[in-house]
Amino acid sequence: MSRRILVLDTTLRDGEQVPGAKLNLYEKLEIAQQLKALNVDIIEAGFPSSSAGDFNAVSEIAKAVGDGPMITALSRAVRSDIDSVYQSVRWAERPLIHIVLGASDVHVEKKFGKSKDDILSMGVEAVKYAKSLLPDVQYSTEDASRADFEYLWKTVEAVVKAGATMINIPDTVGYAVPEEFGELVKRINYRLKNLNDRVILSVHCHNDTGLATANTLAAVKNGADKIECTINGLGERAGNCALEEAVMGIRLRPDYYGAHTGIITKEIYKTSRMVSNITGLDVQVNKALTGDNAFAHSSGIHQDGLLKSKDVYEIISPEDVGVEGMELVLTARSGRHAFKDTVSRMGYEAQNEKDFEELFSKFLQLADTKKEVYNHDVYYLIDKHNRDKSEGGMRASSLEKLGLCELLSFQVVSNDIFPTATVKIKKGGEIFKQSAVGDGPIDALYTAIKDVAGMDVSLKEYKISSMSRGKEALGRVNIKICCDGKVYTARAIDTDIIKASALALINGINTFILDKAGTEKDKTDK
Ligand code: KIV
Ligand code: ZN
Repeated sequence: MSRRILVLDTTLRDGEQVPGAKLNLYEKLEIAQQLKALNVDIIEAGFPSSSAGDFNAVSEIAKAVGDGPMITALSRAVRSDIDSVYQSVRWAERPLIHIVLGASDVHVEKKFGKSKDDILSMGVEAVKYAKSLLPDVQYSTEDASRADFEYLWKTVEAVVKAGATMINIPDTVGYAVPEEFGELVKRINYRLKNLNDRVILSVHCHNDTGLATANTLAAVKNGADKIECTINGLGERAGNCALEEAVMGIRLRPDYYGAHTGIITKEIYKTSRMVSNITGLDVQVNKALTGDNAFAHSSGIHQDGLLKSKDVYEIISPEDVGVEGMELVLTARSGRHAFKDTVSRMGYEAQNEKDFEELFSKFLQLADTKKEVYNHDVYYLIDKHNRDKSEGGMRASSLEKLGLCELLSFQVVSNDIFPTATVKIKKGGEIFKQSAVGDGPIDALYTAIKDVAGMDVSLKEYKISSMSRGKEALGRVNIKICCDGKVYTARAIDTDIIKASALALINGINTFILDKAGTEKDKTDK
C-alpha cells in the first residue's frame, strides 16, 4: 500500500534565514496562502521569540490560513520560547509546537557546555511543558546526523514518553550521505514504531554538498513519514531540500518509494515564481523542475526524439508542475474574455465586477506601453493588484504618519560628463524636490532620493532582470541596501527600468522606516 508522506514547508522560517530574504507581513501572508493552495500539510511560519515582528507574522498567518495545513513555529527548549510559539500559533485550526535542541556531542558540549543528561532532561521538560499547552508537539534532534546513535535514540525515546507526537531528524549541517542517512532513519524508525506507532518520523536536510534532496528521498525509502522542505530550496547557507524536487521525485517513482504526497503539483511553478519574485532570489535557469530550461530541449537529436514521442526525452510533463504550454500573448485588443481566461488559469478569481474592471484597466495601461503582454506580466499585474488592495488603506495613513516616501516624478539625464537626476518626492505629507549629480544616471538618481529621505543608506547590490520576453519586457530591479547596520532587500517592477530603480530604493527606505518604527515599538512594549 502506498504511504502518505506529510510535507512541512519551512520557507517562512528556515528559508527566511537567508541573508537579505527578510519578508514583511504582507509578503509572508501571500506566501502562506499560496502554500495552502499547494496543499502542504504543515506551514512553519517563523521563529516568534526572535522578534515582535516575527511573533506578529506567525499570529496573523495562524489566523488567516484557516482550515487545511497545520501551523507551527520554532522554539528553543525554554519556556519563554515555547510560550511565544503557543501564543502565536494558537489561533490556527490545527496548531503545532516545534521544539529544537542539539543532539550531537559537538552541540551538547560546545554549544551548550552541558552534560548529555542535562540536555536530555531539558528536552523532556520542554516537551512536557509544550504538551500542557497543545496536543501536537514536534521535537527536533538538531545535528542528528552527527550524533552518537544510542544517545540519539535515548533522546527520542525520552521525548516520545514525555508526549512528543513528531520526531524530526535533521541533517543540520549537510553532513549526511544518502545510504548512511537512510540506514539511520531505518534504525530509528524500527525502534520508534515499536515504542509508539502513532508517532511521526520526519527528516530535515540541508544542502551543503548538494545532497539535501537525495538524503530526504533516501529517508522516505527507509520509512520517514514526513519531510521538511522549502520552495526553491531556500534556507540557511546552501539551503534546504527543495520541496518541488522531493515531491516530484516521489511522484515520479511510486514503484520505488511506495509513497505519495498530498501536494497539488500544478501549483509548484506558480509558488516557485512567487517566492522568487517576493524574495528577489532568482531561480537558476537549470534548476530541476522550475528553472527556465527545465523543460527546454535544444539539441537536434532530442527535438527529433520528442517529436516522435514525448516520453523519449520527457519523464515529467511540464503541465504537471504548472508550467503550462498555454502562453497566450495578450495585446490591448485581446478583450475582456481572453484576459479573464488568462487570469482564471492563473488561479485568480475577481471578487466582483468592479475588482475585475480595475484589474482589466491596469492590464490595458500595461498593454499600451508594452504592446505584447505575457504570462509573467499578467502574474505581476495580479500580484500588484492584490498588494495594492490589501496595503491600500494601511499605507495611505502610514505614508504620512511615519514619514514614508512616495515618488511623484523624476527626470534623469545621462551623459559622460555630468549625469544628473531630479526627483519630486512626497515625504510625510510634504513635497520635496532635489537634484544631484552622480557617477552615472542611477548614482545621480539614488543620491537625489537619499538626500530627500535624509538618511545614511548605502547600496550593497543592484540587479536588473527582465520579467518576460520581448523588447518591451517589464524590468525588475532588486536591490540590497544597508541602513543603520542592517541589510534590507527591496524590489520594483516597471516597463521603465530607471523608474523601477527609483521605486526599488524608495521601497527599501520605506521598509527600513517601518522596521525602525516596529523595533522602537518593541522597545517600549518591553
Ligand atoms: O537545520 C536544522 O536543524 C533546523 C531545525 C530547527 C529543524 O532548522
Ligand atoms: Zn534547518
